[in-house]
Amino acid sequence: MEQPGLGLEPPRVGQPSAAEELIPQAPTLSGLRDAAAGCRACDLYKTGTQTVFGEGGEHASVMFVGEQPGDREDIEGKPFVGPAGRLLDEALAEAGIDRKRVYITNAVKHFKWKPQGKRRLHQKPNAAEISACRPWLDAEIALIKPTILVLLGATAAQALLGRDFRVSLQRGQFIERPGLPLMMATVHPSSILRAPDDESREIEMQAFVQDLRRLAQRIKGS
Ligand code: URA
Ligand code: SF4
Repeated sequence: MEQPGLGLEPPRVGQPSAAEELIPQAPTLSGLRDAAAGCRACDLYKTGTQTVFGEGGEHASVMFVGEQPGDREDIEGKPFVGPAGRLLDEALAEAGIDRKRVYITNAVKHFKWKPQGKRRLHQKPNAAEISACRPWLDAEIALIKPTILVLLGATAAQALLGRDFRVSLQRGQFIERPGLPLMMATVHPSSILRAPDDESREIEMQAFVQDLRRLAQRIKGS
């Protein structure tokens, strides 16, 4: 029990509610998006410009899950529209996957950053932020019912497959878990952008495209 005046838990009046409490009954995609726009379930709403919800077809068979919006995404309000998004577009095109046929979202829906000079430097979301934001991802999965979830990078992979999951050891494999669609984890497009030189960037890009080709094979006809 909360006991005001004893220095224990402050009363919850005026406190942000958990994301679950904001999710409408039998939501539509736009209903979910509208509800998420007002989310204050963790502190990231204070530093992010807006909630960057997922985008794509409501009946998409593939859902890509990134980490969190970056600087451009925060401003435009759409996922993967900055440099990492351009790289993802390129890789999808090379693998023969139409971006318009997939749904793209993030594990965390506000941009986390710290100032560095005039720039906003990306900061990794922590476990509490990832779990505060999880109900939105679960609601997207429940609504869209993708055949395959593609987890881009360690944050998305560990959010769905557990903290011990290592993308480097199991990338490109199809993974089954009860209660979830079939999953494949691969690298995050930003990691390819961070490659130290052109040659290694090209090698990493080809490995990424290779993972996406396996995905394309698997979804053929679905
Ligand atoms: N990186 C992500 O993980 N998601 C985006 O939307 C953009 C960059
Ligand atoms: Fe809500 Fe997620 Fe934004 Fe946190 S990051 S305020 S949980 S939408």
